[in-house]
Amino acid sequence: MDNFNFYSPTEFVFGNDRENECGSYVKKYGGSKVLIHFGGGSAERSGLLGRVRYSLNKSGISFVELGGVQPNPRDTLVYKGIDLCRSEGVDFILAVGGGSVIDSAKAIAAGVLYDGDFWDFYSGKNIEKALPVGVVLTIAAAGSEGSGDSVITKEDGMLKRGAGSDALRARFSVLNPALTQTLPAYQTACGATDIMAHVFERYFTNTKEVEITDRLCEAVLITMVKETPRVIADPDNYEARANIMWAGMVAHNGIVGVGRSQDWNSHGIEHELSALYDCAHGAGLAVIMPSWMEFVYKHNVMRFCQMATRVFGCQMNFENPEATALEGIHRFRSFLHSIGMPINFAELGAKEEDIPALVEKFGIGDGRTGGFVALSSADVTEIYKIAAKASL
Ligand code: NZQ
Ligand code: ZN
Repeated sequence: MDNFNFYSPTEFVFGNDRENECGSYVKKYGGSKVLIHFGGGSAERSGLLGRVRYSLNKSGISFVELGGVQPNPRDTLVYKGIDLCRSEGVDFILAVGGGSVIDSAKAIAAGVLYDGDFWDFYSGKNIEKALPVGVVLTIAAAGSEGSGDSVITKEDGMLKRGAGSDALRARFSVLNPALTQTLPAYQTACGATDIMAHVFERYFTNTKEVEITDRLCEAVLITMVKETPRVIADPDNYEARANIMWAGMVAHNGIVGVGRSQDWNSHGIEHELSALYDCAHGAGLAVIMPSWMEFVYKHNVMRFCQMATRVFGCQMNFENPEATALEGIHRFRSFLHSIGMPINFAELGAKEEDIPALVEKFGIGDGRTGGFVALSSADVTEIYKIAAKASL
């Protein structure tokens, strides 16, 4: 096991109706003037924003609002948010929504305290400080409620890039599973795919003897395989929603990845799809991740056999381990298909002729990237090609 620090300072406030307490949590973490940041309307329609406003009022906290965050959140709204926070003297940002809203809130939080262009942080500059952020989560997916990451798309050129810093970690995150009951099945499935992908990015490691994190990863994956079909069939199933919501946090606050090398190429390769086609991140991952697996499995066949047997219940074929590895990948893709995810370019709305442009934007040129298998531009091209034609 590699040396590591594990830092996850967020207070998670989990359970039914807990959003009614968000005013007191803002107060606890020092907020006196809040920016409520939200998305395209679901939080208003469900009545959630009304409850959040009521809770802030009850705690005597004043607030301003900025809605309109789009999935794959844009830099243009971040600039607006920074201006608004400065002119209104905002000292706390409350994100009410999913990963896109939270990531936009984090970008604003860092940008307000920075004299330069906030995009510097998404081009490699370290984030040292940010306004405190709180979260009321409405979709189990990105894990941004527990992560130190933020992913923003620069509208000019549709460049999707990430930034990461402990300064971006939320002070508190309210996780009420009932809030996810209004999600369309497609968004629920996109979220489930993203959660599983966050685990797989860490599961495929070159670090030896990391049994504890292997087993934690498998626990999250098995939970997702069991619970996702239950919520697709019965969207109001609170217990299944609760298991998925906590799985989404566990998958991405870092705990299942400590002490081991990680990969993250599937995320980088996917981000170019969601930047170019403005598709859901989870849908892009459903197309990319099994294709990446098919491309790299020979690097460590036994690790893929471990996934196949422990997560997807395959029988180990000792005479032909490759067959077991491939069966595991096949079952993963079939699972994604069964929950309504696209599995190839046509189903996603992507075009094979765009592959050279996607690879160029991925931007590794003559270099290589990735922690499990370091890929060249030619390798990335191959993965897009496998993804373009994938079938069951
Ligand atoms: O905008 P509204 O109207 O709220 O609708 C949203 C949006 O259309 C809807 N939605 C959310 N909660 C709902 C709901 N609809 C009905 N009922 C509810 N309770 O769902 C749609 C998608 O929302 P979004 O926030 O985009 O989803 P998600 O949480 O999957 O976030 C995706 C973004 O997170 C980034 C992705 O790249 C993408 O930009 N990621 C962020 C990470 C991080 N910060 O750690 C890591 C991830 O790997 C990921 O890259
Ligand atoms: Zn993701």
